[in-house]
Amino acid sequence: MGSLEGKHIVLGITGGIAAYKSAVLLRLLIKRGAEVQVVMTPSAKEFITPVTLSALSGKPVVSEFFTANTGEWHSHVDLGLWADLMIVAPATASTLGKMANGIADNMLVTTYLSAKEHVMVAPAMDLDMYASPSTRRNLATLAADGVEIIEAAEGELASHLVGKGRMAEPEEIVERAERFFSRRQDMVGMKVAITVGPTYEKIDPVRFIGNYSSGKMGFALAEECVSRGAEVIAVTGPVAAYPSDSRINIVKVESALEMNEEALKAFRTADIGIFAAAVADYRPETYSDHKIKREGKDEMIIRLVKNPDISSNVSEEKKEGSILVGFALETDDALDNAHKKLEKKNLDMIVLNSLEDKGAGFRTDTNKVTVIARDGFKKAFPLKYKREVAADIVDIILEQQKKIKIK
Ligand code: PMT
Repeated sequence: MGSLEGKHIVLGITGGIAAYKSAVLLRLLIKRGAEVQVVMTPSAKEFITPVTLSALSGKPVVSEFFTANTGEWHSHVDLGLWADLMIVAPATASTLGKMANGIADNMLVTTYLSAKEHVMVAPAMDLDMYASPSTRRNLATLAADGVEIIEAAEGELASHLVGKGRMAEPEEIVERAERFFSRRQDMVGMKVAITVGPTYEKIDPVRFIGNYSSGKMGFALAEECVSRGAEVIAVTGPVAAYPSDSRINIVKVESALEMNEEALKAFRTADIGIFAAAVADYRPETYSDHKIKREGKDEMIIRLVKNPDISSNVSEEKKEGSILVGFALETDDALDNAHKKLEKKNLDMIVLNSLEDKGAGFRTDTNKVTVIARDGFKKAFPLKYKREVAADIVDIILEQQKKIKIK
């Protein structure tokens, strides 16, 4: 039996030179047992014929909303419901822009908007287009919406320039599809608790001590876990954006004291606990009910007292067999400090991210992490979108969990 036996895949093809590779991709998907429906943009037909693709897939290719001579309507809604996975390969800059902004002026984008399951895009374009702020912005938006980005590779491009912009090879795309199906529901029955975002420590009614955490990393983990079947509770500090997936249970708090209280409740029954929040280590000793006036003061001294260490408190009440994962946000001696935190906080794993790495840490859509575990495991990852980082972290958590159960 093929690894994709019985899976329904919509293969979206857009108008770029790399469309010739889509025939190979289609063939590989079919060979592994998938049922594939091809949806092409009108301009894709300039690069590869619908006849080739319908012959390979054994199904008529869908491209227009209506069949011109019969008036038959092609339902993007039905296609979106039918698909277990949608792969857009190649994805041009224009299609990525339409997908990111909901511009539903062709069958492919309407199908994407109706898709209920996972979507992957494999961009292909010239190197400057690929690096342009607009393409990067659209990719970041799609990644934040849960779309899996199969980054383009380096190599010679249609323009004969050499750089990043070649569509990933069909074999790699098939491998990603196989990986998606194999880990799709591997967290069913598990409870996950996650701390997310910053904490705000009030000084007076208008001022607070906080930090730059946006919650993106924590919520990417929440989304990854829920999409793999886990029950997820996220205890979050004040952030600007929340995930749209209503299956994530969100508990909103403001200060470290409040986060500590809610986390102790949420983590008590969790099989997996992840501390992705950037918790203020200190809070003002006193809070002023009224706005502190600056008149007549050349300086202001605020005395700070220590906040509870939430991860250490939770680990003291750790549920038998559960796994606790902390983050370490470092600027110097990163790995050494991460090891110390693992020990001091009595955690099973630490995800290290360093503010020295461009594109990593606070507010960015990407992160670059090294994961270490108690048993000596260590793995460094390249810069990726936070949702992909979350998938890597979850894969390692599940591996570590198996080891703990075997002991
Ligand atoms: O939210 P984003 O903008 O996406 O940014 C993500 C992030 C950079 C905030 C995230 O990836 C991250 O690194 N979170 C942890 C930040 C941090 O506070 O690191 P730390 O090295 O100071 O703390 C170590 C660990 O102890 C962390 O797991 C932290 O959640 C936990 N901690 C720290 C202090 C405290 N009082 N209680 C805690 O539980």
